[in-house]
Amino acid sequence: MPFSDYKTALVTGASSGMGAAVVRRLRQEGLQVHALARSKDSLEALAKETGCIAHVMDVTDIAGLTALTQQVPFDILVNNAGVDRPRPFLKAQEDDIDLLVDVNLRAVLHLCRLVVPGMVSRDRGHVVNISSIAGAYNFGGNSTYHATKAAISMLSRQLRIDAFGKRVRVTEICPGRVATDIFAHVHGDSKETYERFIEGFELPVAEDIADAIAFCIAAPIAVNVGHMEITPTMQVPGGLQTTRPERPQA
Ligand SMILES: NC(=O)c1ccc[n+]([C@@H]2O[C@H](COP(=O)([O-])OP(=O)(O)OC[C@H]3O[C@@H](n4cnc5c(N)ncnc54)[C@H](OP(=O)(O)O)[C@@H]3O)[C@@H](O)[C@H]2O)c1
Repeated sequence: MPFSDYKTALVTGASSGMGAAVVRRLRQEGLQVHALARSKDSLEALAKETGCIAHVMDVTDIAGLTALTQQVPFDILVNNAGVDRPRPFLKAQEDDIDLLVDVNLRAVLHLCRLVVPGMVSRDRGHVVNISSIAGAYNFGGNSTYHATKAAISMLSRQLRIDAFGKRVRVTEICPGRVATDIFAHVHGDSKETYERFIEGFELPVAEDIADAIAFCIAAPIAVNVGHMEITPTMQVPGGLQTTRPERPQA
């Protein structure tokens, strides 16, 4: 099983939600796991609980990422850190766009730049990129978020071409709604947020995503799971929305 071929992993956005669940899951497999995020207390608690190595760092700190990736030859890279700003694009502010591009896309590109060449030269590695159904489908969200996640989707497929001929696997995990604190982080930690996004819904939880990632990594080395869309059973992407300009719908 390829888990035994891999020794080291880097997980970004490891202080909560899917990232923390992936850290726990990879530690169960006995990997040396480096957990990266900005929240010191959460990361230190996770390190105490799991034995992962905490890196209190912003993913936009390219010098920090460069130093870390020069120190450790990572076999697994999980690009999970992500943010959203709830404002629709027609009301977007300059720093909304910069933040989403910096965290959701630029950091992922730089980490792949820093890590994938080593994987290729060692003929061993697995990159897992967390996109979103926002990168695949159109709906009323924040178009900058959709754009960054669509870029992650394309990058994931493109990396397979860049690593062609080597045993470097790339998996895009494309979640629909998952019951994490992302909604509190994006919309505010309130009863309204909980009622709007979580309460009463039957949703996958972070551990379900971590298990799916573990399945992709545990697959025989000849098997690359390129794309996995994971939504609630009760969530269907798509639809047909038509409006009359003189009677616009909300
Ligand atoms: N939950 C969903 O419904 C859903 C659906 C589709 C896609 N996704 C994607 O799944 C991924 C994980 O989301 P989640 O639901 O687990 O959300 P979450 O609980 O809000 O976790 C986001 C993580 O990203 C980290 N992060 C944010 N900005 C960072 C920065 N500048 N530098 C380093 N780390 C940073 C946060 O840590 P710090 O704040 O401590 O830095 C946190 O650990 C994201 O890419 C998200 O877009 C989520």
